[in-house]
Amino acid sequence: MSQLKAPPLPFRAIDLIRKKRDGAELSEGEIGWLVSAYTRGDIPDYQVSAWLMAVVLRGMTRPETAVLTDAMLHSGEVLDLSSLPAKKVDKHSTGGVGDKTSLVLAPLAAAAGITVPMISGRGLGHTGGTLDKLEAIPGFDVHLGVGEFHRVLETCGCAMIGQTAEIDPADRKLYALRDVTGTVESPYLICASIMSKKLAEGIDGLVLDVKTGCGAFMKNEKDAGFLAELMVETGERMGKQVVALITDMDQPLGNMIGNSLEVIEAVDVLHGSGPEDLRELCLELAGWMLHLGGVAETVTEAKQQSARLISSGKAWEKFGQMVALQRGDSKAIDDVRRLPRARQTREVSAVTSGYLVAMQCEQIGTACVILGGGRERKEDAVDPAVGIVLHKKVGDRVATGEPVATIHYNEESRAERARHLILESCQIGDVAPPKRPLIHKIIGKSGEQN
Ligand code: URA
Repeated sequence: MSQLKAPPLPFRAIDLIRKKRDGAELSEGEIGWLVSAYTRGDIPDYQVSAWLMAVVLRGMTRPETAVLTDAMLHSGEVLDLSSLPAKKVDKHSTGGVGDKTSLVLAPLAAAAGITVPMISGRGLGHTGGTLDKLEAIPGFDVHLGVGEFHRVLETCGCAMIGQTAEIDPADRKLYALRDVTGTVESPYLICASIMSKKLAEGIDGLVLDVKTGCGAFMKNEKDAGFLAELMVETGERMGKQVVALITDMDQPLGNMIGNSLEVIEAVDVLHGSGPEDLRELCLELAGWMLHLGGVAETVTEAKQQSARLISSGKAWEKFGQMVALQRGDSKAIDDVRRLPRARQTREVSAVTSGYLVAMQCEQIGTACVILGGGRERKEDAVDPAVGIVLHKKVGDRVATGEPVATIHYNEESRAERARHLILESCQIGDVAPPKRPLIHKIIGKSGEQN
């Protein structure tokens, strides 16, 4: 009697691990099979961990990176926004401290006539996350299904949500595995992870904000540049218009760090005020979004148009419309005193005088996490009210006893730890440091048109 046998698997995980371990290039079929078999649960975590580590150590070729991105992108649903006539353009940052630009950019670009289907993440390590910031607005719903996401986009031109179960399930599984196996830090894997999620949004264009400096994941400009080029090339291979800006994260962006506080600062920018560095970066990124979206010939023109959309109140109106459509409390953004507020504040005062020469930006982000503004463990809830307001930025003069920051807190023990960390992170010296530019480099085909 003949026995029924399962069809043989086209590949064996062990062979693909060995191949990458030995530095060989994997084929399209091999990578595609690995991603889909892992997403289905047909390959165990330990084998994929070994393969990921081989990628970290051996790297990937450009074609392999593109194939991995494509396989992850097609592991789930790819949004079809073709019924929306406007160009779809998004922005993605690699993660920083005090970076609330997404809250300004989505409504600003929508006010210019672009569709912005933004799928964002939560805080990671010491960096903040757009979803956590949005959820500081009481009622704001980041869990829209694909249908409702589409309806909000159709009505107001922008919508901001979290990753859904249908989009890029391979990245969800792979990212969780990388997080606990020391395999996050590979530019090839970061590129595939970010680009697969963004391309699943059904976009035409993407502006990447690749952070560099002591508060970024890519601490030096060379690594940031390599990642930026990889992402631009991968996006272009897939027929998208992509530009990457390497921007400074050697100190926090703006003056406020913490979820509610960052909403307040974003609201300030949408009202035409706010700190200069934040405004400058918002206008630069918006300029590129508008340019890729085809509403302005040059980036310079697009930046001027963005500034007008802020001063006319049109960008603010869009923000209000999006908040209402996503069930956020409009009263809380009209009067930000209604946003969650910490019960206590404490000043962090300088112990010596001179110039603020440097800030350990990662430590400032960690201080915010310690206050409860981010997560120490994946399952932690964030406290939207807590955070840090900076009164001094790098290059400013500081006198002994003068406050460099104010901590907004709800728990005494956390406030003391955060205060120490902030104090330690501020380096005061006799000579003002040279000013670092906010935009270090622009990478992408259209980079020359700036
Ligand atoms: N952000 C992502 O979405 N993926 C990575 O791999 C790193 C940062």
